[in-house]
Parts: sequence; C-alpha cells; structure tokens
Amino acid sequence: MTNKTILVTGGAGYIGSHTCVELLNAGFTIVVVDNLSNSKIEALKRVERITEKTVVFYQADIRDKDALASVFNQHHFDAVIHFAGLKAVGESCQQPLAYYDNNVHGTLVLLQVMEQFNVTDLVFSSSATVYGDPHTVPIKENFPLSATNPYGKTKLHIEEILRDLSKADSFGAKKRPWNIAILRYFNPVGAHHSGLIGEDPNGVPNNLMPYIAQVAVGKLSQLSIFGNDYPTKDGTGVRDYIHVVDLAKGHLKALEALFSCHDDSRSCKAYNLGTGKGYSVLDMVNAFSRVTGLAIKYQFVDRREGDIAECYADPSLSADELSWQTDKNLDDMMRDTWSWQSNNPAGYA
Ligand code: NAD
Ligand code: WQD
Repeated sequence: MTNKTILVTGGAGYIGSHTCVELLNAGFTIVVVDNLSNSKIEALKRVERITEKTVVFYQADIRDKDALASVFNQHHFDAVIHFAGLKAVGESCQQPLAYYDNNVHGTLVLLQVMEQFNVTDLVFSSSATVYGDPHTVPIKENFPLSATNPYGKTKLHIEEILRDLSKADSFGAKKRPWNIAILRYFNPVGAHHSGLIGEDPNGVPNNLMPYIAQVAVGKLSQLSIFGNDYPTKDGTGVRDYIHVVDLAKGHLKALEALFSCHDDSRSCKAYNLGTGKGYSVLDMVNAFSRVTGLAIKYQFVDRREGDIAECYADPSLSADELSWQTDKNLDDMMRDTWSWQSNNPAGYA
C-alpha cells in the first residue's frame, strides 16, 4: 500500500482533511488540489502537525484544465480521491448554475485530465442524497436513485457519467480501463480525536451537529428542530450519523480494493458508507448533553422543505467487498465534536 501517490481534490475540506491524515498515517504520499473556496490552508498545516508528515499543496480550481495538467505533469498519481465540490443543499436551489458548473463541469475536467495522463483509479464522494426519499430503510445500493435538489442532482449526474465511462471501456482498447469506487456517505459528524481538525462551516451551519456545537459554545442561542411530527419514534428526523474518521478510513479501504482488482474486473461500483443505525434529532441532542454535560436549548419549528423522515444505510456491501466497518459510537462523535468546537470556537480563523 505504501510508495503510492494519491491526488486528493478538496483535501483541505472537512472530510478531505481527515482522509489526508489517514492516508499519511498509512504511508501514502499525497498531493492536495483545493481552491480554498470553502476551507483554509490552516487545516492542512494541522494535518501535517498531527501526522508529522508533509502535504504537497496546490491552490487551484479543478475547472482549470491547464493548472490540473501541470499538477499531473509534476507527479505520477496511482489514484485520485475526488472530494472537491460545493455541498450546501439550500444554496444549490438558489444558485443551480454555480453547482452544476463547480461539481459537474469540475468533475468532467478532472476526468479528462486523468484520462490524458492514463490515471484511471478513482474514489468519488457521492452522497446518500442520491436515494431521494427511500421507500424503506435500511437503504441498499441497488435502491432507485433520484434527487430533489440541484446539489443532489450534481451527485447523481456525476455518478451517471462515471458509470458511462466504465461502460465505454468495453468498446475501446484503452490501456487501462477505469476502476471507480463511488462512496455514498450518510451523515458525517465528529472530528479527529486530537481536536486539531474538524468541521468549520461558513456562517450559520445548515447541518445539525455543527449547529448543536455552536449552541453549546454560545455562538448561537438555540437549536430549531425541524419538525416533531414525522412518523419516527419521537417525531423528529432520523439519520445515519457516521464519525468522520470512520468515513475517512473507508476511503483507504476503497483504494485497497481498487489496487487489488485484477485488470479484467476493473469496474465502477457504489458503496454505502454509514453505520446502519438511525438516530433522531432528539437522540443527538440528548447524547451531546450526556457526553459533554452541557444543556442544549431547543424549540420545535416547522419541517424543513425537502427533508425526509428516515434515512439510514445497509452497510453490508462495504463490509463484504471493502472489509470496512465503523469502529466509533455516538459518544465518540459527541466527544470529538465538542473537543474540536471548544478548542477552536472560531474554527480555523
Ligand atoms: P468541504 O466543503 O469541507 O470540502 C470540499 C473542499 O473542496 C473544500 O476544501 C473546497 O474549498 C474545495 N473545492 C470546492 N470546489 C472546488 C473546486 N472547483 N476546485 C478545487 N477545490 C474545490 O466539504 P466536505 O464536507 O468535506 O465534503 C467533501 C465531499 O463530500 C463533497 O463532494 C461533498 O459533496 C461530499 N459529501 C459531503 C457530505 C457532508 O455532509 N459533509 C455528505 C455527503 C457527501
Ligand atoms: C439532519 C437532521 C434535520 C439542522 C444533509 C444533506 C445531504 C448530506 C448531509 C451532502 C434532519 C435536522 C438539522 C437544524 C434540525 N450532505 N436538523 N435542525 O439534511 O440529513 O443531510 O447533509 O451530501 O445531502 O441534505 O443533514 O444535518 O442538515 O439534518 O432539526 O438546525 O437534523 O431536519 O432531520 P441532512 P442535516
């Protein structure tokens, strides 16, 4: 597994930075390309502090073909892990063109440059959002796919592009067919146990866990819980929260699977990365208070448009084919979120 060099797009971001730590600890050389549109260079400095290893960094936009080609000219990559993208659902409804351009066009440019340099091993960050509103839970990879907002549609379009690329290999005589792992993340939360890296959202957080953490640290006055009339155990929405370090390790397992694949079985496959357990919003609030000793003030408000009642994974395919499983529990997620938030009340600023 060592002596391999991985290009990590979006490596300065929340999930990317945690994955960089795991890659460096496993002995990979990593090169990060990030335009820092939603992250800070400080995150990569902290990655270097945690691992005592070096990150090669290029500040560049993946839509800039010349800049990307110049990076590929300077390094031989064994694989690419592609995190770079915009991810705010609400913003994507207001600015769909920005999302299609950044996520879909950006991925197309990356794939073109990869093809040009004959780098055809790819791990792609997809999302459970591609399952839309599932008929049943737990969700398996072969469930119908749909998307209800532009962000989700960019993930679905990119997945389709990747499947088409892989199918096209059966017609051509390319030296090395594409070998692609699409990872569908459920709800990433938590932070590295060092408290040095974590999620640093711009402005008021959209997601539950950073919102709870900012109420706890006194930056926000109270949590609004979006709906208490869902058909769930306590009426609040149920999700599959996964510790970001478990998620990061899933990328190493996916790389291992790609690298151990025989030439005639290179393909494009999707895997759920979730715990298989569903927790409600109230479960999360109560667990945070239990672990940290801090009360979280909340009020119930109307449902948020586009939200679904329940979403959790069947992670058995990842267990069987990637030998991946989660190690961390809800208490780890709460403890590490609070360690990051309380040590860095202003994030990386
Ligand atoms: P993030 O915003 O923290 O990280 C994304 C990184 O990509 C940022 O550092 C940003 O500066 C960079 N970036 C964005 N557009 C770029 C471009 N055009 N060129 C170069 N760099 C660019 O987000 P994250 O939470 O770490 O998510 C990583 C990936 O995982 C994203 O693709 C996201 O859609 C996906 N994902 C995230 C979640 C989640 O809840 N966090 C869930 C499912 C899927
Ligand atoms: C979780 C639960 C809310 C905030 C989103 C994206 C998805 C993926 C992960 C990228 C829900 C409730 C939340 C708040 C609340 N991202 N909530 N008050 O909506 O499951 O998924 O992030 O791919 O695509 O849609 O995550 O953290 O926003 O919400 O009551 O202030 O918390 O209603 O039940 P979600 P979330």
